[in-house]
Amino acid sequence: MNRKYRRTVIAGNWKMNKTPSETKEFMTALKGMLPRGRWCDIALCVPAVCIPAAVRAMRETRVSIGAENCSPNPSGAYTGEISTGMLLDAGCKYVIIGHSERRAMGETDQQINAKVLAALNAGLIPILCCGESLEQREAGITSEWIAMQIKLALLGVPEDKIRKVVIAYEPIWAIGTGRTATPEQAEEVCEHIRVVVRKLYSSKNARAISILYGGSMNEKNAYELLAQPDIDGGLIGGASLVPEKFVQIIEAANQPTD
Ligand code: PGA
Repeated sequence: MNRKYRRTVIAGNWKMNKTPSETKEFMTALKGMLPRGRWCDIALCVPAVCIPAAVRAMRETRVSIGAENCSPNPSGAYTGEISTGMLLDAGCKYVIIGHSERRAMGETDQQINAKVLAALNAGLIPILCCGESLEQREAGITSEWIAMQIKLALLGVPEDKIRKVVIAYEPIWAIGTGRTATPEQAEEVCEHIRVVVRKLYSSKNARAISILYGGSMNEKNAYELLAQPDIDGGLIGGASLVPEKFVQIIEAANQPTD
């Protein structure tokens, strides 16, 4: 983290877990144990049907609500899709875009780029995900792969909007596997992402953008990961489903790093 230049963001990704009733229960429990520290931004990205319950429960708190996906289109004949305007009106502040689980379902870099642009146009903060597979890491092409994903996803994002984008580095081999990247491995790629953003935009913008790590981050390893200079927060799956664990990660982000 480098709190002098950028926001620390602790974001949960619930994936396809919890009903609206369970959301209400979770949020009530979370509200009762939220730490007072003001260092980090907190977000919970929840299934679309849980958004109203989450927004209602967290109205007077520091916790923002996000979605896990959006349509690149503003409206029209797209059965089953949800637009960025709808998410904003429902009370969302964030939207996860390009998660590897969605990429595995066929989402392309071109669609991800269109979704990033749609989110920014609507005034939502995109949490843009990137990450390599184990095969790519072992083949030594992690840097090239990540640079390509970032460049394609940010095509057409103007200079005055780039600071609104949050980037999450999530190595696919670390997601839901309990096999976390070491702080050094995670730092190396997050630093590389900042270099990519610097080359595309400017040092000032690269210094200001929040880059998160995701992949089996939990209450035990969060502090060490967040102590890295280019890791500005976490995108947390499994551990964000348990209020006690999520709160401990927020507390880790509130600790002094030096
Ligand atoms: P995990 O998921 O923390 O359960 O590994 C992270 C993510 O997929 O965003």
